[in-house]
Amino acid sequence: MSGEILILDFGSQYTQLIARRVRELNVYCEIVPFNKQLELSPSVKGIILSGSPSSVREEGAPAPALDVEHCGVPVLGICYGAQWLAWKSGGTVAPAGSREYGRAELHVKDASDPLMKGIPADSRVWMSHGDTITDLPAGFRMLASTDAVDNAAFRIGDSLIWGIQFHAEVHHSEFGARFLENFVLGICGVAPDWTPENFIESTVAHLRAQIGKDRVVLGLSGGVDSTVAAVLLHKAIGAQLHCIFVDSGLLRKDEFASVLESYKGMGLNVTGVNASARFLGDLAGVTDPEKKRKTIGRDFVEVFNEAASKIKDVSWLGQGTIYPDVIESSAVPGASATIKSHHNVGGLPEDMKLKVVEPLRQLFKDEVRRVGAALGIPPLILGRHPFPGPGLAIRILGEVTPEKVAILQEADAVFIDALRREGLYDTIWQAGAILLPVKSVGVMGDGRTYENCIALRAVTSVDGMTADWARLPYEFLASVSDAIIRSVKGVNRVVYDICSKPPATIEWE
Ligand code: XMP
Repeated sequence: MSGEILILDFGSQYTQLIARRVRELNVYCEIVPFNKQLELSPSVKGIILSGSPSSVREEGAPAPALDVEHCGVPVLGICYGAQWLAWKSGGTVAPAGSREYGRAELHVKDASDPLMKGIPADSRVWMSHGDTITDLPAGFRMLASTDAVDNAAFRIGDSLIWGIQFHAEVHHSEFGARFLENFVLGICGVAPDWTPENFIESTVAHLRAQIGKDRVVLGLSGGVDSTVAAVLLHKAIGAQLHCIFVDSGLLRKDEFASVLESYKGMGLNVTGVNASARFLGDLAGVTDPEKKRKTIGRDFVEVFNEAASKIKDVSWLGQGTIYPDVIESSAVPGASATIKSHHNVGGLPEDMKLKVVEPLRQLFKDEVRRVGAALGIPPLILGRHPFPGPGLAIRILGEVTPEKVAILQEADAVFIDALRREGLYDTIWQAGAILLPVKSVGVMGDGRTYENCIALRAVTSVDGMTADWARLPYEFLASVSDAIIRSVKGVNRVVYDICSKPPATIEWE
């Protein structure tokens, strides 16, 4: 990797998007809180200052700890970042009018500037700010305007510092990606060599140096992240990696056996532990969703610990932590920090005193998939829908019993198999069946039935934070409903969930 970009996060809801766009240029970048004291490593070739929900006019407005004006590498301020640069040098920043939210037409005033390379004279950009720069400081050059915003883009004289008040990182900015490309590849001169293959090569070398002859234990969940982390570690340290795959009895129908088989097919050294009786036993009588999660989480840690302690001389715990988890736990208070995932079953087996190794810490989810594909992991595993750690327990409303798990597994399998058969599986983010705690009357043959009700849930989403119900064809829903009622004993009614998130959630518990 020949260079990287540093993004100073002032708390904008779009900070992660900036990182995404830079990574899409095949350039590595990292997000750090604006107030972090840091020594710039020679590999940092440029700095981007993010937006922020704050105003530079406020007392104690966030200011970077780094002396960005004299740091020796090019700097691009976006929105708040641009306002801060102007304000710091004596420019005027004032409350903006309502016209500075949403789409605007950008007019280039200085097409010769390297930031404007290839940008048409007029193009659409996305504005979202409460403040605006009304007067640029002396020596600043205005590069572009919109009808409402005179100083939409500027450069500080002939220095390597630029500011833009629009959000180049959002898709609504027509040439947004081009602005970032001009800055990152053109001005900063970073080579676009951050590819899955390079990532694998450098990570494998790093893991070998980090781990040496030690042993690593890793819990596999059947999901994408833990699988890719395991295959990467396996490539680095081979038989020194020991994987544990726990059957909680709450997985999908036949999933434990088939996933275990594919893990073995990938050459992983994996121990399957069947602990269904323990999980289901501990769940007896538990109806509260959070109590279910806690019970399952505790059992996971205990079962994992027992299995791990049988492996001799283990000193590392491998984990499939990915970049959004890292950012979420260290984010600057502000809009980006409020978007949190509250999940994740399990926890660190603390008494084992293991060091933690997380080979995917720098990657976004789609990058994990690309790395997985480059590692040769089968699409069937890489393309799998997310599945919650507590499994079917939070899709059985009320108490979980072995009988209910069996009913739900059958109904879910009918639904998922049909989605795959009809080529719909890859068009949706996540799907599954839910067993409701109600019985209703039906009629079958000549007899009256009084049986269970299954709800089907299928959603489209980008990241699981928000979601919409999938518009599955009526004919498809009709045939799934028919197949479930015909083949799953104990079910006489099927309904389809038509709620988006928010206000509903994806899971029912
Ligand atoms: P919700 O229901 O909050 O779910 O809209 C968002 C995403 O998170 C998954 N989910 C969980 N994953 N442990 C997990 O590992 C949990 O307790 C849990 N609860 C929900 C859910 O399946 C969806 O992908």
